[in-house]
Amino acid sequence: MSSLTPTQKTEDRTLDTTLRPQRWDDYIGQEHIKDNLHILIEAARRRNEPIEHLLFYGPAGLGKTTLAHLIAKETNTNVRLTSGPAIERVGDLASILTNLTPGDILFIDEVHRLNKLIEEVLYPAMESRSLDIVIGKGPSARIIQLELPPFTLIAATTRIALLSAPLRSRFSGGTFRLDFYSNDHISEIIRRSAAVLGIGIEDDARSEIARRSRFTPRVANRLLKRCRDYAQVKGDGVITAALAQDALQLMDVDPLGLEPSDKRILEAIIDKFNGGPVGVQTLAASTAEEIETIEDVHEPYLLQIGFLERTPRGRIATPRAYEHLGKELPQQRQDSLL
Ligand code: ADE
Repeated sequence: MSSLTPTQKTEDRTLDTTLRPQRWDDYIGQEHIKDNLHILIEAARRRNEPIEHLLFYGPAGLGKTTLAHLIAKETNTNVRLTSGPAIERVGDLASILTNLTPGDILFIDEVHRLNKLIEEVLYPAMESRSLDIVIGKGPSARIIQLELPPFTLIAATTRIALLSAPLRSRFSGGTFRLDFYSNDHISEIIRRSAAVLGIGIEDDARSEIARRSRFTPRVANRLLKRCRDYAQVKGDGVITAALAQDALQLMDVDPLGLEPSDKRILEAIIDKFNGGPVGVQTLAASTAEEIETIEDVHEPYLLQIGFLERTPRGRIATPRAYEHLGKELPQQRQDSLL
């Protein structure tokens, strides 16, 4: 067992924060969410209240945690970071909640992995700032109620469908879906990140990295940093288009941003299951990937670029996926397209 507290466990897990935008103006894209948040924040400020509880959902790496940090900055409050799996027992949640100072933001990442018993302790805490704890068992059990300081819960999930209806309904400030970014926005993010890192980059190199970034800022920043390493070792430090291409090839990131693990999944569907449909469990077993990794990391992008379809009977590789991988579509599927 780790001796870290449930909030520390996730703080250590957060990636490099140097590239995280520190001001709203630096946060590129997701305009709809920013517009909504500005109103919520301003209205709460005028009423001198904490903002209401918020839920962010959408694929990993799109900036959900970053939004929580920006809201905390804007409202002059502290943010406590934790995650669903880090809160193992009711006591963990009780300790986090009772240690909040008034106005704090509690950020719970991967909230879909919160244990159901803990979820039930969260309901009254969210609704009436009341912490109800059962002490003892059977006839001698007692409930003690503690009043909590005013706080805002910001929860994030990649899997909104796994959240129970009672939990979802308690995010009174709103539920917001983060969308994949456009290539133009990713390119802007790369421009800003290169400036923060103090590295020169040609416009064509930015576009090259953006095209392979899976519409995801976290991926863009990771690729940018590896291209920086490559340009420093193989070039004179400036990332040119040619250096970026070489670096990305060395990393095995193809022109659409697919990595070997994405290709293994598509090839399994095509070669072992005749293009599908195949259930995710079977697919996970045949590729030695975790179901959750397939669902959270690979599928959202493959669905977005139209390489994969999800049907009630399982996953299907699309004609586009066949073409990209240089595979021939089975005759039966060709016929069905006529
Ligand atoms: N880093 C992660 N998300 C970002 C965004 N939306 N804008 C700028 N930098 C980011």
